[in-house]
Amino acid sequence: MDPLHSLTQRRTIRRFEPEPLHAGDLERLLEAARRAPTDANAQLYSILRVTDPELRRELARLAGGQAQVTDAAEFFVPLADVYRLERLLAHRGKEMARWPRTGLHFALVDATLAGAQLAAAAEALGYGICWIGGLLNHPREVAQLLELPPGVVPVSGLAVGVPAEDPPLRPRLPEALVVHVDRYHPYAPADLDAAYAAMAPASRRGDWLFVLERYFAAGGTMEDRDPAYGRLLAQQGFVADWPPEAAASLEAAGLPAASLGEALEAVLGSGWRGALFGREEEGYSVWLERETAAERGEGTSPGEALARAVPKAD
Ligand SMILES: Cc1cc2nc3c(=O)[nH]c(=O)nc-3n(C[C@H](O)[C@H](O)[C@H](O)COP(=O)(O)O)c2cc1C
Repeated sequence: MDPLHSLTQRRTIRRFEPEPLHAGDLERLLEAARRAPTDANAQLYSILRVTDPELRRELARLAGGQAQVTDAAEFFVPLADVYRLERLLAHRGKEMARWPRTGLHFALVDATLAGAQLAAAAEALGYGICWIGGLLNHPREVAQLLELPPGVVPVSGLAVGVPAEDPPLRPRLPEALVVHVDRYHPYAPADLDAAYAAMAPASRRGDWLFVLERYFAAGGTMEDRDPAYGRLLAQQGFVADWPPEAAASLEAAGLPAASLGEALEAVLGSGWRGALFGREEEGYSVWLERETAAERGEGTSPGEALARAVPKAD
């Protein structure tokens, strides 16, 4: 048999038999995941195996009512995880570097590779898998439910089980549109027509635009997801100039924001006329002013100074 059969003939499975994995297979899948390559061998990921039926039901609900979450034999949540690294360094008296953006990149890549290797191993053993990105509809609720510490974010869900359906292969873009040689080639109108033609079967109505539009065009579902994901990243400490404490404090004041820029927009949209930031000997200050009032905050970062000025103003 073609050794690549389980990779090239794979398709997502959304209906599962109510059966567990065969004895020993769970361990084999987890071993395959742990053997995935990982940047600098830092292993900035964790895999959360969800066994509690009540938790599974709640996750299925948060994912938009996806039965795969409860019906598959196993449900995993690969996590981007810099928390363990921070603990390892602290355990031996070292402070973690300030690298929130690159740390997030490392961790997302490591978690994705480990999850992908687990999924590929499951498919090689004859199981079906379904990734559940729907968890990212409510990422903060998921983080709360799974008690994720700072520095940890869910990448996606991953259902694994015995298939109860045999769907056909789903379409893909032509190779020439996704593989560039030596230099990136821009897309001519004919290429884009070829993309829509190849992907037409991905839509029940025979036009891929319906799918792309629903998710990714202005007004599509991703516009709902993005602010919530931004707030998760801020809450978990991955936004360089917007400390989690500042984000929480402003949210408590009714001004949720995923970045310092969004915080300024929220503050200036809530009755304040101006914000004057200053560099102090130790940190930053901000004056918030309106026609008849001014409020001052101080902190070690502009975000913290702003967060301290806002609750005082209320
Ligand atoms: C990160 C990620 C998230 C996904 N989320 C969902 C999901 O929430 N629900 C679902 O039914 N399928 C989900 N899928 C499966 C895709 O819809 C599927 O891979 C795609 O339509 C191609 O179909 P195929 O895997 O059968 O080739 C997800 C896939 C990925 C990689």
